Amino acid sequence: MEIKDSIVLVTGGNRGLGKALVEAFLAAGARKVYVGSRTPIESADPRLHPIKLDITNEQEVAAAAQACQDVTILVNNAGVASFASYAGASSLHGARQEMETNYFGPLAMAQAFAPILKKNGGGALVNMLSVLSWFTSPSLGSYSGSKYAALSLTEGIRVELRAQGTRVIGAFAGYIDTDMTTKINAPKASPVDVAANIIEGIRNDSEEVLSDQSSHRVRAALDGSRKAFYQNIQQEWDNAQH
Ligand SMILES: NC(=O)c1ccc[n+]([C@@H]2O[C@H](COP(=O)([O-])OP(=O)(O)OC[C@H]3O[C@@H](n4cnc5c(N)ncnc54)[C@H](OP(=O)(O)O)[C@@H]3O)[C@@H](O)[C@H]2O)c1
Repeated sequence: MEIKDSIVLVTGGNRGLGKALVEAFLAAGARKVYVGSRTPIESADPRLHPIKLDITNEQEVAAAAQACQDVTILVNNAGVASFASYAGASSLHGARQEMETNYFGPLAMAQAFAPILKKNGGGALVNMLSVLSWFTSPSLGSYSGSKYAALSLTEGIRVELRAQGTRVIGAFAGYIDTDMTTKINAPKASPVDVAANIIEGIRNDSEEVLSDQSSHRVRAALDGSRKAFYQNIQQEWDNAQH
């Protein structure tokens, strides 16, 4: 799909990967970008339209759909991570917040914007997923659960929206260098590079965008033996416990 002259909404567009995506869409010729944010900041750039949007708030999702009737590309980018293991978490709070933000939020956005994308000729819906949509990292257990759910949403809605001409894209990445991962000491992809690869994926009509080296590596490993892959995960987990 052409990015030039598209009208884009990026959730969580105020910082991190979302901000890099907003800038990448502008550089690629988008006519207008709605920057969804819980705390919108005015911009001097007339192509940028800040919009107040907490994706876990149904009224705000409905108001955004009302206000953004011209959208041709929706990017469900907003997300949270509690960095908690399943058994080690002290309550359900983090897991619930992850499901609300990483699954129910994108689901609500998809439901609200599917008719808008249809009206505007089909367009594209991009869900920002993770390598943890494919395997569970024990130390990020509940986050993985929410990103698995988001992959199911992506795969299901892709089938549902194909007839209306909407391309549904799942974008995958390992660690990206944003606020989310400040405490993680591991190689991280640059948000600018990830955003550029997502833009390229939209241009090429890809259904899946492996947006960094890590996603290519994990995909290749999982394409081999899932059992062997999990043996490594178990070993890493066990080693970290000692
Ligand atoms: N960083 C990684 O290693 C990594 C790897 C793979 C996938 N991802 C995914 O990439 C996406 C972007 O993550 P990031 O790394 O850029 O994280 P980040 O730097 O922590 O930014 C998260 C963004 O999501 C927004 N957000 C959180 N809850 C929201 C809500 N209820 N409603 C609307 N916006 C909300 C935040 O807005 P506020 O400023 O209002 O908090 C912020 O703009 C997420 O879906 C994440 O799961 C990240």
